[in-house]
Amino acid sequence: MQTGVNLIKLPKVLDSRGNLSFIEENNHIPFSIRRTFWIYDVPGGVRRGAHAYRESEEFIIALSGSFDVILDDGKGNITTYHLNRSYYGLYVPKKMWRVMDNFSTNSLALVLSSTDYSEDDYVFDYEEFKSFVSHE
Ligand code: TYD
Repeated sequence: MQTGVNLIKLPKVLDSRGNLSFIEENNHIPFSIRRTFWIYDVPGGVRRGAHAYRESEEFIIALSGSFDVILDDGKGNITTYHLNRSYYGLYVPKKMWRVMDNFSTNSLALVLSSTDYSEDDYVFDYEEFKSFVSHE
């Protein structure tokens, strides 16, 4: 697993009436939730992401279906995480290049973010990203 990245197993309340999982900020995930968004109706074969954030931390869950999250720290470590259970989530620290692909039909990706949306937080250019992380 890459530095700071964490595949977190969430609480699961088993019940014959249906299972339940939950997330408390700064408990199950290591940040305060500022924003929530979700990605759905993704056509087959489409890739999303292909950028990094300067400051935002994220927690990504496959609430339904499955998809891959490919994380690249810009220092030669690239790992693919396959998310396919609603009680697992991937913690992604800031300064990670991420691509999401391999979305299954009817998949639903829930993303919790530590910041408000700001286009200025995005690094869209891969060479700029590598230069950004090399100056740490
Ligand atoms: P983007 O983050 O580029 O999506 P992805 O990384 O999944 O490819 O966002 C796509 C569009 O949605 C872009 O125009 C910005 C807008 N957007 C918001 O307005 N608010 C948000 O919280 C997010 C995540 C995106």
